[in-house]
Amino acid sequence: MRKYYDTRAPEYDDWYLGRGLFGERERPNWEQELAALGRALASLPFAHTLDVACGTGFLTRHLPGEVVGLDQSERMLEIARERVPTAAFIEGDAFGLPFADGAFERVFTANFYGHLDQGERATFLAEAARVAPELVVCDAALRRDREREEMQERILEDGSSWQVYKRFFVAEELAAELGGGEVIFSGDWFVVVRS
Ligand SMILES: C[S@@+](CC[C@H](N)C(=O)[O-])C[C@H]1O[C@@H](n2cnc3c(N)ncnc32)[C@H](O)[C@@H]1O
Repeated sequence: MRKYYDTRAPEYDDWYLGRGLFGERERPNWEQELAALGRALASLPFAHTLDVACGTGFLTRHLPGEVVGLDQSERMLEIARERVPTAAFIEGDAFGLPFADGAFERVFTANFYGHLDQGERATFLAEAARVAPELVVCDAALRRDREREEMQERILEDGSSWQVYKRFFVAEELAAELGGGEVIFSGDWFVVVRS
């Protein structure tokens, strides 16, 4: 996943913005839902937040309060720094967060948890709980055309092909998996759970 996302960094926002390889995709309600997702994130209570696997900062910019973004890809972070000058961004590993116990009030993570296998999930959840009492997970909603989990072949602009593990979630099931929590967003494309 690391090499894939580092390679994808310059074209990552095309997925959100419907450009490039995503220009022809049929995604009913996508733009409206992204706007609603941004509003849902912005309406969270203010908190000192660590955004783990923040990518290009596309969602980071909506998070209220003092925000630190962390990602393993310097190329992703370069874009995030330009996009969200009010946040701090550091390169680091989600499975060994470079912060003291309780350093934050909230960990936020988007479109990352659903790429993790069982062992990685346990490690990430333990790290998140170590650095903050609250976890907010945003990920892909289960749709009719998807299995709950699949290996996807993804092609980048340079023609390279990558195998990526991906899960899709029902919001209430994700809340239960995280040990309980509140569903703060449940749409056609995204779910967000606060636990
Ligand atoms: C699908 S992108 C999500 C980016 C952003 N959160 C969003 O929702 O737009 C997944 C991100 O996870 C990052 N990533 C993958 N493995 C990581 C790790 N072990 N530690 C930190 N970041 C990681 C990738 O570099 C990539 O930016």
